[in-house]
Amino acid sequence: MKALVYHGPGQRSWDDVPDPVIIEPTDAIVRIDSSTICGTDLHILKGDVPAVKPGTILGHEAVGTVVEIGSGVTTIAVGDRVLVSCITSCGRCRFCKEGHYGLCTGGGGWIFGHLIDGLQAELARVPFADTSVYKVPDELSDEQVLFLADILPTAYEVGVLNGRVEPGDTVAVVGAGPIGLATIMTAKLHTPGRIIAIDLDDGRLEKAREFGADVTINNGREDAIAKVMELTGGLGADVAIEAVGVPDTFELCTELIRPGGRVANVGVHGHSVTLHLEKLWIRDVLITTGLVDTNTTSKLLRLIEGGRLDPTVFATHHFALADTEKAYDVFGAAAETHALKVVLTAVPVGHELPAGDEELVAVGV
Ligand SMILES: NC(=O)c1ccc[n+]([C@@H]2O[C@H](COP(=O)([O-])OP(=O)(O)OC[C@H]3O[C@@H](n4cnc5c(N)ncnc54)[C@H](O)[C@@H]3O)[C@@H](O)[C@H]2O)c1
Ligand SMILES: [Zn+2]
Ligand SMILES: [Zn+2]
Repeated sequence: MKALVYHGPGQRSWDDVPDPVIIEPTDAIVRIDSSTICGTDLHILKGDVPAVKPGTILGHEAVGTVVEIGSGVTTIAVGDRVLVSCITSCGRCRFCKEGHYGLCTGGGGWIFGHLIDGLQAELARVPFADTSVYKVPDELSDEQVLFLADILPTAYEVGVLNGRVEPGDTVAVVGAGPIGLATIMTAKLHTPGRIIAIDLDDGRLEKAREFGADVTINNGREDAIAKVMELTGGLGADVAIEAVGVPDTFELCTELIRPGGRVANVGVHGHSVTLHLEKLWIRDVLITTGLVDTNTTSKLLRLIEGGRLDPTVFATHHFALADTEKAYDVFGAAAETHALKVVLTAVPVGHELPAGDEELVAVGV
C-alpha cells in the first residue's frame, strides 16, 4: 500500500510500504476513506516529538471502512464505516475505566502516527478496535465527522469543559487556529455571554468572527489586556483558553482573567513558561492542562447528527489521498494559503485510476 512516511526531521514521502496485518486478536484493519493533517504532524516534522521514530507512518485522524477484524473483535464487522480517533483506549486500565483514555496505560492513548503507524495511508491497523472506534451513522458524510477525530473533542474537553464555561461567561480564546476556532464553536454550546478572540493574524480573526466570536483583538497592534478590562468593567474574563502553545500567550491568559477566573491551557508547549504565582496566589484562579481524552466524541457526534454542530466549515482544501505530500505543503503554509483543515480522500473502491493518472483526482484547493 501507499502511506505518508516520516523519515526524520524535515523529511517525509509518499512511499510503498507493506500492508498492515492483524497482530492482536483485538485489532482491526481499516481502509482509510478520508484523513487529514494536524498541526501536531508539523511539530513532528520539525523534530519536536522525538518519540516518533523515522519510518513511522504519520496521521491520527481518519474515517474508514473495516476490511478485517481480529478474532477477539465483537462489536464491529467488516464493511462498517468507522471514525478512527487520535486517542485509542485499551478499555481495561484504571484511566480508561475512568474515561481518561488519553492517559491509557494499557497500550492506548495517543499512539497513531506517534508510537505506531498512523492513518495517512491506504490501510491502517487499529488496536483495541472495540473500545476505540466509533460507528458512523449512514446519513453523515465523512467530512461531517472527520474533525471529531481530534480538534473538536480537544477544544471542547481541554478548553471549554476544563475552563468550566458557563452561560453568561466572558470567554477569551487566545489563538484562532483550528483549535481556537473549534473552541469558539464548542464554547457556544454553553451559551457564553461573550466570546473574545485574540490572535496576531487578521485573517484568523476574520475566521473567528465567522465562527461566532463577538469581539476580536489583534494583540500585535492592540493592548489585549487593556481591551479585555475595558469590556469587563475592569474585572477580566471569566475564562481564558490558551490555544497557541507559547510562553507569551499562557502569561497573557493568566493576566486576562478576573479574580476567581479559570485558565484552560490547550496549547502544546515546547519551552518553559513562567507562572507568576507572586501575583496569582491571592486571586483564587484555576489553571488546567490536558491531553484530549475523546470521552465527549459520542456527545459531539449526536450534536452533528442533530444539526447543532457543523464542522464541515473547517474543510478549506481537498486533495486525493495520493496527493498527501501536496496537502502538507498547503497546510504547512497556512499563513499564505489560509488553510484550516485539509481533507484527503481515497479513490472509492471500484474507481481506481490507471497508474500515473492520480493528478485527475486532485479536486483542487
Ligand atoms: N492539548 C491537546 O490535546 C492538543 C491537541 C491538539 C493540538 N494541541 C495544540 O493546540 C495549539 C493550537 O493548535 P492549532 O492547530 O490551532 O495551531 P495553529 O498554529 O494553526 O494556530 C495557532 C494560532 O495562534 C496564533 N498565534 C501565534 N502566536 C500568537 C501570539 N503570540 N498571540 C496570539 N496569537 C498567536 C497564530 O496566528 C495562529 O492563528 C497547538 O499548540 C497544538 O499543538 C493541543
Ligand atoms: Zn492532532
Ligand atoms: Zn487504557
